[in-house]
Amino acid sequence: MDHTEQQKALIQWWKMSSRDLPWRQTRDPWLIMVSELMLQQTQVNRVIPKYQHFIKKYPTPKKCSEAPASSIIEAWEGLGYNRRAINLHRTSRVIVETHYGKVPNTLNDLLELPGIGPYTARAILCFAFEEDIGVVDVNIHRIISRVTGKALSPLEMQIKADNFVPAGEGWIWNQALMDLGSDVCGSRSPDCGRCPIMSHCLWKGEGPDPAKRKTSFSNLNQSFEGSDRQGRGKLVNTLRNRRVFLSELEKVMGWNGDPERCRRVAAGLIKDGLVEYDDKAGYGLPS
Ligand code: ADE
Repeated sequence: MDHTEQQKALIQWWKMSSRDLPWRQTRDPWLIMVSELMLQQTQVNRVIPKYQHFIKKYPTPKKCSEAPASSIIEAWEGLGYNRRAINLHRTSRVIVETHYGKVPNTLNDLLELPGIGPYTARAILCFAFEEDIGVVDVNIHRIISRVTGKALSPLEMQIKADNFVPAGEGWIWNQALMDLGSDVCGSRSPDCGRCPIMSHCLWKGEGPDPAKRKTSFSNLNQSFEGSDRQGRGKLVNTLRNRRVFLSELEKVMGWNGDPERCRRVAAGLIKDGLVEYDDKAGYGLPS
Protein backbone atom coordinates (compact mmCIF):
# COMPACT_ATOMS: atom_id res chain seq x y z
CA MET A 1 0.00 0.00 0.00
CA ASP A 2 1.22 3.47 -0.82
CA HIS A 3 1.28 4.93 2.65
CA THR A 4 2.58 8.27 1.63
CA GLU A 5 -0.34 9.03 -0.62
CA GLN A 6 -2.78 7.73 1.91
CA GLN A 7 -1.22 9.84 4.62
CA LYS A 8 -1.23 12.97 2.48
CA ALA A 9 -4.85 12.44 1.49
CA LEU A 10 -6.08 12.07 5.05
CA ILE A 11 -4.11 15.01 6.41
CA GLN A 12 -5.28 17.18 3.52
CA TRP A 13 -8.88 16.21 4.24
CA TRP A 14 -8.49 16.93 7.94
CA LYS A 15 -7.09 20.40 7.34
CA MET A 16 -10.33 21.24 5.52
CA SER A 17 -12.77 19.61 7.91
CA SER A 18 -11.29 19.31 11.39
CA ARG A 19 -13.48 19.86 14.41
CA ASP A 20 -12.43 22.67 16.70
CA LEU A 21 -12.30 20.93 20.08
CA PRO A 22 -10.93 22.64 23.20
CA TRP A 23 -8.35 19.95 24.02
CA ARG A 24 -6.86 20.40 20.55
CA GLN A 25 -5.75 23.90 21.48
CA THR A 26 -3.38 22.74 24.19
CA ARG A 27 -0.39 20.46 24.61
CA ASP A 28 -0.54 20.61 28.41
CA PRO A 29 -0.31 16.94 29.44
CA TRP A 30 -2.56 17.39 32.49
CA LEU A 31 -5.32 18.93 30.39
CA ILE A 32 -4.91 16.19 27.79
CA MET A 33 -5.13 13.57 30.53
CA VAL A 34 -8.35 15.12 31.85
CA SER A 35 -9.86 15.29 28.37
CA GLU A 36 -8.92 11.73 27.49
CA LEU A 37 -10.39 10.33 30.70
CA MET A 38 -13.59 12.29 30.16
CA LEU A 39 -13.82 11.21 26.52
CA GLN A 40 -13.65 7.54 27.39
CA GLN A 41 -17.19 6.36 26.85
CA THR A 42 -18.75 9.82 26.99
CA GLN A 43 -19.70 11.76 23.87
CA VAL A 44 -17.68 14.77 22.75
CA ASN A 45 -20.57 17.24 23.06
CA ARG A 46 -21.26 16.23 26.61
CA VAL A 47 -17.59 16.39 27.52
CA ILE A 48 -16.87 19.92 26.24
CA PRO A 49 -18.63 21.97 28.99
CA LYS A 50 -17.51 19.58 31.74
CA TYR A 51 -13.94 19.72 30.54
CA GLN A 52 -13.94 23.51 30.46
CA HIS A 53 -15.40 23.72 33.93
CA PHE A 54 -12.99 21.13 35.32
CA ILE A 55 -9.77 22.63 33.98
CA LYS A 56 -10.72 26.06 35.27
CA LYS A 57 -11.15 24.60 38.73
CA TYR A 58 -8.26 22.15 38.60
CA PRO A 59 -5.72 23.52 36.09
CA THR A 60 -2.81 21.47 37.48
CA PRO A 61 -2.26 18.08 39.13
CA LYS A 62 -1.37 19.98 42.31
CA LYS A 63 -4.70 21.83 42.46
CA CYS A 64 -6.54 18.55 41.91
CA SER A 65 -4.46 16.72 44.51
CA GLU A 66 -5.28 19.32 47.15
CA ALA A 67 -9.04 18.92 46.74
CA PRO A 68 -10.98 16.20 48.58
CA ALA A 69 -12.03 13.23 46.45
CA SER A 70 -15.67 14.22 46.90
CA SER A 71 -15.08 17.50 45.01
CA ILE A 72 -13.65 15.64 42.05
CA ILE A 73 -16.60 13.25 42.03
CA GLU A 74 -18.90 16.27 42.12
CA ALA A 75 -17.12 17.90 39.19
CA TRP A 76 -17.60 14.64 37.30
CA GLU A 77 -21.39 14.84 37.52
CA GLY A 78 -23.11 14.00 34.24
CA LEU A 79 -20.14 12.14 32.79
CA GLY A 80 -20.85 8.70 34.28
CA TYR A 81 -18.26 6.07 35.13
CA ASN A 82 -17.27 7.85 38.35
CA ARG A 83 -14.37 5.50 38.88
CA ARG A 84 -12.54 7.61 36.33
CA ALA A 85 -12.89 10.62 38.64
CA ILE A 86 -11.42 8.76 41.60
CA ASN A 87 -8.59 7.46 39.47
CA LEU A 88 -7.85 10.94 38.18
CA HIS A 89 -7.75 12.25 41.73
CA ARG A 90 -5.42 9.43 42.83
CA THR A 91 -3.27 10.00 39.79
CA SER A 92 -2.94 13.71 40.59
CA ARG A 93 -1.61 12.78 44.03
CA VAL A 94 0.90 10.29 42.60
CA ILE A 95 2.06 12.92 40.11
CA VAL A 96 2.62 15.42 42.91
CA GLU A 97 4.27 12.89 45.23
CA THR A 98 6.53 11.10 42.77
CA HIS A 99 6.87 13.26 39.66
CA TYR A 100 7.29 16.78 41.12
CA GLY A 101 3.78 17.72 39.97
CA LYS A 102 4.54 17.04 36.30
CA VAL A 103 2.73 14.45 34.20
CA PRO A 104 5.40 11.89 33.20
CA ASN A 105 6.33 11.55 29.55
CA THR A 106 7.23 7.88 29.18
CA LEU A 107 4.92 4.96 28.51
CA ASN A 108 6.16 3.02 31.54
CA ASP A 109 5.70 5.89 33.98
CA LEU A 110 2.27 6.73 32.61
CA LEU A 111 1.13 3.11 32.87
CA GLU A 112 2.00 3.09 36.57
CA LEU A 113 -0.57 5.82 37.29
CA PRO A 114 -3.94 4.68 38.66
CA GLY A 115 -6.51 4.26 35.90
CA ILE A 116 -4.11 5.03 33.06
CA GLY A 117 -4.17 2.10 30.64
CA PRO A 118 -2.39 1.59 27.33
CA TYR A 119 -4.90 3.68 25.38
CA THR A 120 -4.77 6.73 27.66
CA ALA A 121 -1.00 6.54 28.08
CA ARG A 122 -0.51 6.57 24.32
CA ALA A 123 -3.07 9.31 23.81
CA ILE A 124 -1.13 11.50 26.26
CA LEU A 125 2.19 10.74 24.55
CA CYS A 126 0.69 11.63 21.18
CA PHE A 127 -1.64 14.55 21.95
CA ALA A 128 0.51 16.26 24.61
CA PHE A 129 4.09 15.25 23.83
CA GLU A 130 3.54 14.90 20.06
CA GLU A 131 5.11 11.46 19.85
CA ASP A 132 4.70 9.51 16.64
CA ILE A 133 2.77 6.54 17.95
CA GLY A 134 -0.51 4.88 17.12
CA VAL A 135 -3.47 5.65 19.39
CA VAL A 136 -6.08 2.92 19.07
CA ASP A 137 -9.50 4.03 20.27
CA VAL A 138 -12.77 2.49 19.00
CA ASN A 139 -12.83 4.74 15.95
CA ILE A 140 -9.26 4.08 14.92
CA HIS A 141 -9.69 0.37 15.63
CA ARG A 142 -12.62 0.32 13.22
CA ILE A 143 -10.78 2.23 10.49
CA ILE A 144 -7.69 0.03 10.64
CA SER A 145 -9.81 -3.15 10.56
CA ARG A 146 -11.56 -1.89 7.44
CA VAL A 147 -8.50 -0.52 5.66
CA THR A 148 -6.56 -3.75 6.23
CA GLY A 149 -9.66 -5.88 5.63
CA LYS A 150 -8.90 -7.97 8.70
CA ALA A 151 -9.87 -8.47 12.32
CA LEU A 152 -6.40 -8.07 13.82
CA SER A 153 -5.20 -9.24 17.21
CA PRO A 154 -4.61 -6.41 19.71
CA LEU A 155 -0.85 -6.63 19.21
CA GLU A 156 -1.12 -6.65 15.41
CA MET A 157 -3.52 -3.73 15.65
CA GLN A 158 -1.11 -1.67 17.73
CA ILE A 159 1.78 -2.42 15.37
CA LYS A 160 -0.32 -1.45 12.32
CA ALA A 161 -1.45 1.73 14.05
CA ASP A 162 2.15 2.63 14.90
CA ASN A 163 3.32 1.90 11.36
CA PHE A 164 0.61 4.04 9.77
CA VAL A 165 1.79 7.20 11.55
CA PRO A 166 3.66 9.55 9.20
CA ALA A 167 6.98 10.62 10.71
CA GLY A 168 6.74 13.92 12.56
CA GLU A 169 2.95 14.11 12.23
CA GLY A 170 1.62 11.78 14.90
CA TRP A 171 -0.53 14.46 16.52
CA ILE A 172 -2.38 15.50 13.38
CA TRP A 173 -2.57 11.94 12.05
CA ASN A 174 -4.33 10.52 15.09
CA GLN A 175 -6.68 13.51 15.39
CA ALA A 176 -7.51 13.07 11.71
CA LEU A 177 -8.24 9.36 12.13
CA MET A 178 -10.51 10.10 15.09
CA ASP A 179 -12.51 12.58 13.03
CA LEU A 180 -12.63 10.25 10.06
CA GLY A 181 -14.04 7.58 12.36
CA SER A 182 -16.72 9.81 13.80
CA ASP A 183 -17.67 11.78 10.65
CA VAL A 184 -17.15 9.40 7.72
CA CYS A 185 -16.19 5.87 8.70
CA GLY A 186 -18.99 5.35 11.22
CA SER A 187 -19.74 1.95 12.62
CA ARG A 188 -23.23 1.61 11.15
CA SER A 189 -23.33 3.83 8.09
CA PRO A 190 -19.88 4.46 6.62
CA ASP A 191 -20.01 7.17 3.97
CA CYS A 192 -17.32 5.74 1.68
CA GLY A 193 -18.14 8.26 -1.04
CA ARG A 194 -16.74 11.01 1.17
CA CYS A 195 -13.73 9.06 2.41
CA PRO A 196 -10.36 10.57 1.49
CA ILE A 197 -8.60 7.19 1.78
CA MET A 198 -11.18 4.94 0.16
CA SER A 199 -8.81 3.99 -2.67
CA HIS A 200 -6.43 2.60 -0.02
CA CYS A 201 -9.13 0.66 1.79
CA LEU A 202 -9.41 -3.09 1.25
CA TRP A 203 -13.02 -3.17 2.44
CA LYS A 204 -14.56 -0.16 0.62
CA GLY A 205 -17.94 -0.81 2.22
CA GLU A 206 -18.47 -4.01 0.22
CA GLY A 207 -19.15 -7.43 1.74
CA PRO A 208 -18.88 -8.35 5.41
CA ASP A 209 -17.52 -5.55 7.58
CA PRO A 210 -14.07 -6.54 8.98
CA ALA A 211 -14.75 -4.25 11.96
CA LYS A 212 -17.91 -6.11 12.94
CA ARG A 213 -16.23 -9.18 14.45
CA LYS A 214 -16.38 -9.59 18.14
CA THR A 215 -13.49 -7.64 19.59
CA SER A 216 -12.37 -6.40 22.94
CA PHE A 217 -14.53 -3.34 22.31
CA SER A 218 -17.76 -5.35 22.30
CA ASN A 219 -18.37 -4.73 25.98
CA LEU A 220 -19.06 -1.08 25.14
CA ASN A 221 -22.47 -2.16 23.91
CA GLN A 222 -23.63 -3.79 27.09
CA SER A 223 -27.03 -2.61 28.14
CA PHE A 224 -27.05 0.04 30.84
CA GLU A 225 -30.67 -0.56 31.87
CA GLY A 226 -30.78 -2.98 34.78
CA SER A 227 -26.98 -3.20 35.00
CA ASP A 228 -24.89 -2.97 38.14
CA ARG A 229 -23.50 0.23 36.70
CA GLN A 230 -26.94 1.79 36.70
CA GLY A 231 -27.33 1.11 40.43
CA ARG A 232 -23.82 2.39 41.10
CA GLY A 233 -24.66 5.60 39.26
CA LYS A 234 -27.90 6.09 41.17
CA LEU A 235 -26.19 5.74 44.53
CA VAL A 236 -23.31 8.08 43.67
CA ASN A 237 -25.70 10.65 42.20
CA THR A 238 -27.71 10.70 45.43
CA LEU A 239 -24.53 10.91 47.50
CA ARG A 240 -23.57 14.05 45.61
CA ASN A 241 -26.44 15.75 47.48
CA ARG A 242 -26.76 13.86 50.75
CA ARG A 243 -25.76 10.79 52.73
CA VAL A 244 -27.73 7.55 52.37
CA PHE A 245 -28.62 5.16 55.19
CA LEU A 246 -28.34 1.41 54.81
CA SER A 247 -32.12 1.15 55.17
CA GLU A 248 -32.61 3.35 52.10
CA LEU A 249 -30.19 1.53 49.85
CA GLU A 250 -32.75 -0.53 47.90
CA LYS A 251 -34.89 2.48 47.13
CA VAL A 252 -31.97 4.69 46.13
CA MET A 253 -30.38 2.06 43.90
CA GLY A 254 -33.70 1.09 42.32
CA TRP A 255 -33.59 -2.56 43.38
CA ASN A 256 -36.43 -2.96 45.83
CA GLY A 257 -36.53 -6.51 47.18
CA ASP A 258 -32.90 -7.26 46.37
CA PRO A 259 -30.90 -6.07 49.38
CA GLU A 260 -28.07 -8.48 48.62
CA ARG A 261 -27.42 -7.03 45.22
CA CYS A 262 -27.54 -3.52 46.69
CA ARG A 263 -25.01 -4.39 49.34
CA ARG A 264 -22.73 -6.21 46.92
CA VAL A 265 -22.71 -3.34 44.44
CA ALA A 266 -22.25 -0.76 47.22
CA ALA A 267 -19.33 -2.84 48.52
CA GLY A 268 -17.80 -2.62 45.04
CA LEU A 269 -18.04 1.17 45.19
CA ILE A 270 -16.34 1.18 48.58
CA LYS A 271 -13.59 -1.07 47.28
CA ASP A 272 -13.05 1.30 44.37
CA GLY A 273 -12.67 4.19 46.81
CA LEU A 274 -15.74 5.99 45.46
CA VAL A 275 -17.91 5.63 48.53
CA GLU A 276 -17.36 5.38 52.27
CA TYR A 277 -19.57 3.71 54.85
CA ASP A 278 -20.05 4.55 58.49
CA ASP A 279 -22.24 2.48 60.84
CA LYS A 280 -23.98 5.55 62.17
CA ALA A 281 -23.96 7.99 59.30
CA GLY A 282 -24.45 5.50 56.46
CA TYR A 283 -23.02 5.91 52.98
CA GLY A 284 -21.23 9.07 51.80
CA LEU A 285 -18.68 10.30 49.32
CA PRO A 286 -15.07 9.96 50.47
CA SER A 287 -13.77 12.94 52.38
N1 ADE B 1 -11.64 11.04 21.77
C1 ADE B 1 -10.52 10.82 22.45
N2 ADE B 1 -9.57 11.70 22.15
C2 ADE B 1 -10.13 12.55 21.25
C3 ADE B 1 -9.65 13.66 20.54
N3 ADE B 1 -8.44 14.11 20.76
N4 ADE B 1 -10.48 14.24 19.67
C4 ADE B 1 -11.73 13.76 19.50
N5 ADE B 1 -12.23 12.72 20.12
C5 ADE B 1 -11.44 12.11 20.99
